Amino acid sequence: MTTFDLANVQTELQGKNPRSILKTALAHFDNIAISFSGAEDVVLIDMALQIRKDIQVFSLDTGRLHPETYRFIEQVRKHYQIDIEVLSPDRLPLDAFVKEKGLFSFYDDGHQQCCGIRKVEPLRRKLATMDAWITGQRKDQSLDTRADIPEVQHDAGFSGPDKQLIKFNPLLNWSSAQVWDYIEAYQVPFNELHKNGYISIGCEPCTRPVLPNQHERAGRWWWEEATKKECGLHAGNIKVK
Ligand code: ADX
Ligand code: SF4
Repeated sequence: MTTFDLANVQTELQGKNPRSILKTALAHFDNIAISFSGAEDVVLIDMALQIRKDIQVFSLDTGRLHPETYRFIEQVRKHYQIDIEVLSPDRLPLDAFVKEKGLFSFYDDGHQQCCGIRKVEPLRRKLATMDAWITGQRKDQSLDTRADIPEVQHDAGFSGPDKQLIKFNPLLNWSSAQVWDYIEAYQVPFNELHKNGYISIGCEPCTRPVLPNQHERAGRWWWEEATKKECGLHAGNIKVK
């Protein structure tokens, strides 16, 4: 890896299309991985494979994903003939948490603790081994938390004491419609749940379909305030008032 000049690369990438951002990301870093949620961020895998065949992909298996999402992750693995690293939560804190609070405590006291154990800790473990990661975050997913995401950023929340972790968000400026145009145009496989009214897809107990004209994140953690709808993967998006 050559030295990475974040400010310069950000200036260079500002307003660029997803492919250009991915190209730059993959040119600068070998030890870089796509974080794949099992939803429409599959377009990142499709695009990245046109640039480099040996891309790394991982998914956080919270243990609470929809059956359709597990099947879709498997479909993507076979369709593109790639390895997908499926990461599980650490068993001991998970066992203790479920024993103490049961399987649905997030409806009573919020999603942070469960997401912390099922998503954030496994992500932290994975990112400790990486120099950079690539996410499918988009500005249009949330005016409350994602309106200001940049093309590339220092991920302070997951950096170590002597390592600066870099995060790329190639789809940031695309609308949902652009993502879906790409899926249709390039015959990209997609999660069956999208046929049933689901737009944004997370864990099964915390995701529901949205009504026409409802915002996509209205279907995620619907019992919580919009400004708190980040699970910790992208906690830096939450503005501290
Ligand atoms: S979340 O933080 O609210 O759950 P969202 O579903 O919008 O995130 O997805 C945004 C991006 O976060 C995805 O494109 C993906 O890069 C990453 N991400 C979210 N969930 C997962 C997951 N289970 N496994 C891997 N990456 C994920
Ligand atoms: Fe737990 Fe819901 Fe977070 Fe999934 S989205 S880890 S089930 S709180």
